[in-house]
Amino acid sequence: MLREPHWARWRQGVETGLERALPAHPLGNSTLHAAMRHAVLGGGKRLRPMLVHAAGEATGADEALLIAPALAVELVHAFSLVHDDLPAMDDDALRRGQPTVHVAFDEATAILAGDALQSLAFSLLAHADAPAALRVGWLATLADATGMAGMCGGQALDMAATGQSLDLAQLEALHALKTGALIRASVRMGALAGGADNATLARLDDYASALGLAFQIRDDLLDIEGDSAQLGKTAGKDQAQDKSTYPALLGMDGARQALQHQRERMTAALAGLPSGADALAQLGEFAVRREH
Ligand code: IPE
Ligand code: IPE
Ligand code: MG
Ligand code: MG
Ligand code: MG
Repeated sequence: MLREPHWARWRQGVETGLERALPAHPLGNSTLHAAMRHAVLGGGKRLRPMLVHAAGEATGADEALLIAPALAVELVHAFSLVHDDLPAMDDDALRRGQPTVHVAFDEATAILAGDALQSLAFSLLAHADAPAALRVGWLATLADATGMAGMCGGQALDMAATGQSLDLAQLEALHALKTGALIRASVRMGALAGGADNATLARLDDYASALGLAFQIRDDLLDIEGDSAQLGKTAGKDQAQDKSTYPALLGMDGARQALQHQRERMTAALAGLPSGADALAQLGEFAVRREH
């Protein structure tokens, strides 16, 4: 996926920006700071920041404007992973090939690191070198996607659904929130930076909704098909914990068909866009085919 020159440039900007946001020599509590660095640096596919850049490119945004929302969504994502791995949630010991934050540090530190990563994300957006109206648009988009009607709401549904059997509509709603919301926000923040009109925002949102579902269906399949070394996280957890997933509900073939359906939705949504949606199309393919 990351072969063309702009992937490398975008990715480098993200890594440098994250390092700058969490510099090696902290001013405040050094344990909390070290836990935040552990959660954010040295791993991760950086899909959401790449979506911000790709949506910005598709809508003609100034690339310099995209850095703050790209970093902000990755920080919220990192927070979501730290809390997702906690003993009270998925109780995972491995993430991005390393011990999870509560294992490397302790549980209280992991809770606080997640909290502080979330506020760092919003702080970066608020202080970004961008017009005030754009900053407010980004802040509203990311706040809505993070909270009760977004990722946190989806995670609550995920916890409540553990050991229960959902129907397909309920499972789709759960995935759309827990994973889809931040992916949709990534695309929307990039497109807001490009000054996209409402019709373009709606079309991009169709694409992003399909990508979000595809990404989580693939995650559910990989949990079964992959191994821990390849994934950098413990394989086979969903079945062990009786999670509500696409393969659990539809079987492997049914889940693969659902994935293919989302792939077609992405292609249809992008077909109506003017030129420049190449990077978005490639990220869509990546979500469908990824091996880790
Ligand atoms: C994992 O996200 C959690 C899900 C929403 C499925 P990623 O697969 O994007 O994790 P990293 O950032 O690459 O580690
Ligand atoms: C997590 O879904 C979604 C988040 C909001 C973090 P999973 O629980 O399936 O993610 P992994 O498999 O632990 O990365
Ligand atoms: Mg989970
Ligand atoms: Mg998990
Ligand atoms: Mg998973």
